[in-house]
Amino acid sequence: MRDFLRPFGAALAEGGETLLNPSTGQPLGRTRATTRESYDATVEAALRRFAEWRMRPAPKRGELVRRLGELLREHQTALAELVSLETGKIKAEGLGEVREMIDICEFAVGLSRQLHGLTIASERPRHRLMEQWHPLGAVGIVSAFNFPVAVWSWNAALAAVCGDVCLWKPSPLTPLCSLAVQALCDKAAKEHDAAGVFSLLPGGAEQGTWLADDARVPLLSFTGSTVVGKQVATRVAGRLGRSLLELGGNNGLIVLDDADLDLAARAITFGAVGTAGQRCTSTRRIFVQKGVAMKLIEKLISAWRTIKIGNPLEDGVLLGPLVTKAAVRRFEAAVAKAREQGGEVRFGGHVLKNRPGNFVEPTLILAKSHERFPIAWEETFAPILYVFEIDDLGDALKAHNAVSQGLSSAIFTDSLRAAERFLSAEGSDCGIANVNAGTSGAEIGGAFGGEKDTGGGRESGSDAWKNYMRRQTSTINFGRDLPLAQGIEFG
Ligand code: UN1
Repeated sequence: MRDFLRPFGAALAEGGETLLNPSTGQPLGRTRATTRESYDATVEAALRRFAEWRMRPAPKRGELVRRLGELLREHQTALAELVSLETGKIKAEGLGEVREMIDICEFAVGLSRQLHGLTIASERPRHRLMEQWHPLGAVGIVSAFNFPVAVWSWNAALAAVCGDVCLWKPSPLTPLCSLAVQALCDKAAKEHDAAGVFSLLPGGAEQGTWLADDARVPLLSFTGSTVVGKQVATRVAGRLGRSLLELGGNNGLIVLDDADLDLAARAITFGAVGTAGQRCTSTRRIFVQKGVAMKLIEKLISAWRTIKIGNPLEDGVLLGPLVTKAAVRRFEAAVAKAREQGGEVRFGGHVLKNRPGNFVEPTLILAKSHERFPIAWEETFAPILYVFEIDDLGDALKAHNAVSQGLSSAIFTDSLRAAERFLSAEGSDCGIANVNAGTSGAEIGGAFGGEKDTGGGRESGSDAWKNYMRRQTSTINFGRDLPLAQGIEFG
C-alpha cells in the first residue's frame, strides 16, 4: 500500500477500517473513527482557541486562510490525486476540486477586509442605529464523499475569517483526503499561532450525531442526503441550534427548439456523466422540445459512444467508477425500475462486470411522461439521464418543478423571452438557474444551495458568510436626553 499521505506530512492510522479503491477494489489505507473522549478534548481545545480568535482582527485571521490557500496550491497535484483515488473522479475534476478550495481561500481573504454591517437612520435625535456581525463560535462541518474537500473549504475558509473555529467530520468514504487537508491546516495554524481553528473528527454517523446534539456547537453545516439531512436538522433544531443544509438535487435542463444543440449536448454530457453523475448538481432530467428531441438524443449518443471509461487517473478517461459497490447496486435498481415504469434505455444501462472496480455505463433513458415515471423524481447518484419530450416551455416548467428537490437548473434557448421566463418567479424554483450553461460546475463567487428538499442553505460566495456570524443591533445615544422610540413619554 502506497503512503499517499507522505507529501502532506501526515500519517496513516494503525488498524481501523480498511478503505477500498473504487477503481480497483484493492485496499487504499486504513482509518480510525474519533472516540468520544478525543471528540470532547478536540471541542474543548477549539473553544479555548475561539476565546482568542474571535478578538483577532479579521484581516489577521485572513492571513491564516491565505497561507492555507498557498499550501493547497503547492499540494494541488498530490491532493487532486488523492481525491481521485478515494472518490474515483477523473484527474481534471480532482484538480478542479482543489482549485475550488484555492479559489474560496482567496475569496475569504478578500472577505476578511469586507465583513460589514449597516448604519441605519435612527428615528431619535443624536442617536446612531447600527448593525454589526460577530463570530458565532464552533462550527460543525459534516461533508460528503463526492466533494470530500472543496465543500469543507467553502465552510471552513469563510468561518475562519468570520472568527469561528471549525470542527470537521468528513465522509467515512473519504478520510484520507481529509487527513491530508488537516495536515496542511495544522502547518498553516502552527505558523500563525492558530491551533484549534481547524480540527478534524474522523468518523461516521455516530460522530455526526455527537455534533448535531452538542450545544457547544451553535451551527452545523451538513452536506449529504435529504433523508439524513432531515434527521440532522431535527436534532439541531431540538436544541435551537442552527443548521446549514446542502442536500439532494434532482437537476433538470430544458432544451427548446431554438437552442444551440451542440452547446446543449456538451453541457448535458458534462452534467450527466461528469463525476460519474455523483455531484449534487449533476444533470438528471432533460426536457426537450419535440422538434429537436431526436436530433439531440443522437448527438448525445454519438458523443457518449466515445467516452472512455476506466482508471480516473489515466489521461483521456472521462468516466471513473462509482464510489462503492452499494452505489453500483443503486444504479442497477434505478435502471430496472425505469424499465418497469416504461422507460426505454437508449444508451448504456449496464455494470461493467468484466473488470474490478465499480464501473457502470453512462445511461440515457427515454421516458414518455414525467408524471408517470416516479423513478425520475428521485436522486440516484449515478450517470443516468432521463429524457422527456415536451410541447412547450409551460409544459417543461410544470414537470421540471414537480420534484421535491430544488438545487440547480438550466435552459438552453436563443429566445430572450423564454430565458427570462425561466428566470422569473414563475420559472425555475431552484437555488441555481442558468441560461445556456449546464446545471453543474458552479463558480464559488455565487451563493450555492437550493430550495425544498435541498434544504434551503446557501454556502460559498455572495453573502453566505452571514451564516457563520451572529448579528447584533446597537443603538448609541450621543445626546444628553433620553428620547424613547415610538414616541413614548414615560414619566
Ligand atoms: C456538490 O456536488 O456537493 O457546482 C458540490 C458544482 C461544484 C460543487 C458541487 N462546484 O458542481
